[in-house]
Amino acid sequence: MPESLPDIRPTVPLIVDVDTGIDDSLALLYLLASPEADILSIASTAGNVPVDQVAANNLAWLDLCRATDIEVTLGAQAPLVAPLMTTEDTHGPQGIGYAELPVSTRSLSDRDATTAWVELVRERPGEITGLVTGPLTNLATAIRVEPDLPRLLKRLVVMGGTFWHPGNTTPTSEWNVAVDPEAAAEVFAAFSGLPADRLPIVCPLDVTETIEMYPSHVERLAARAGSTPQEIISESDAPFTRSAASNPVVRHFADAVRFYMEFHREHDQGFLAHMHDPFAAAVALKPSIVDVVPAVVDVELDGTLTRGTTVADRRGMWGRPNNALIATSTDPKAFFDQLIDRVGALAERLYPR
Ligand code: RIB
Ligand code: CA
Repeated sequence: MPESLPDIRPTVPLIVDVDTGIDDSLALLYLLASPEADILSIASTAGNVPVDQVAANNLAWLDLCRATDIEVTLGAQAPLVAPLMTTEDTHGPQGIGYAELPVSTRSLSDRDATTAWVELVRERPGEITGLVTGPLTNLATAIRVEPDLPRLLKRLVVMGGTFWHPGNTTPTSEWNVAVDPEAAAEVFAAFSGLPADRLPIVCPLDVTETIEMYPSHVERLAARAGSTPQEIISESDAPFTRSAASNPVVRHFADAVRFYMEFHREHDQGFLAHMHDPFAAAVALKPSIVDVVPAVVDVELDGTLTRGTTVADRRGMWGRPNNALIATSTDPKAFFDQLIDRVGALAERLYPR
């Protein structure tokens, strides 16, 4: 039963900090398709690809979605301490798989990402939800400028880390934390001791790797958008196959996610795409979709084998106050049903048949 959206007002003001990326792209589409989302600012962080490319991708998706003049800021060129690590083999040379989005004519904000974080939370204390789906460099830098930032946010949702689940960057670390472990450690430390309802919700690989997008999901999204012909992404497609979708949002997203599915297959995970970031976006809009456990989270910085590993103490062994709520389970089907309905409806509204 399609969701009835018209009577929903923008009730969730958001700062969205991304390293756009293929799944970051779908997170942006999902938020743009969600009437309760009020995107105040999109911060660009180096991660999947260099920050200038991340920012260009953010602007281009806003153009394609004919979005209002949402601020896009330029953030960290590199992590706090570590040399920059990017992953074009995962997300493609430009970070959006095989998609080739028209270059945007929009301008970046005059202020940088750190300044935007600090100024916005000071302007609207206790109101804003922060969503980070990339390395935590910008947020850590903002907390250095404004140590009270954790208390000035209403909520923080982070896609990052892995706890009781294998890593995707080293055997024990997840990409967003592995790119900038120092930043992640500083962010988690800054939230230490806040009341439970103000602790960051951390969406780790433990949960986000249950969010498996298959070609059938893309086919359903295209159908919901009224796009033709049927959007069938097959692992037996000839090389260089690209979408012929009549709907531009469907076409570009399908080309992006095809690259991601090929990457997952090449890494023995199946012809699928783990949609980490749109899931974290859904949590930012509705935290109740995940079960969580309180914990003290810290990050290994010195281990030869384990640098970038997130470690959770759920039993008070370290004698420190909790600083995180770790997402442990969700309903992937319910998530995909809503995502397909919302993003498909957005695509249809923007580019009707
Ligand atoms: O580990 C997955 C995360 O790293 C996702 O946010 C993906 O976009 C990359 O940034
Ligand atoms: Ca990301």
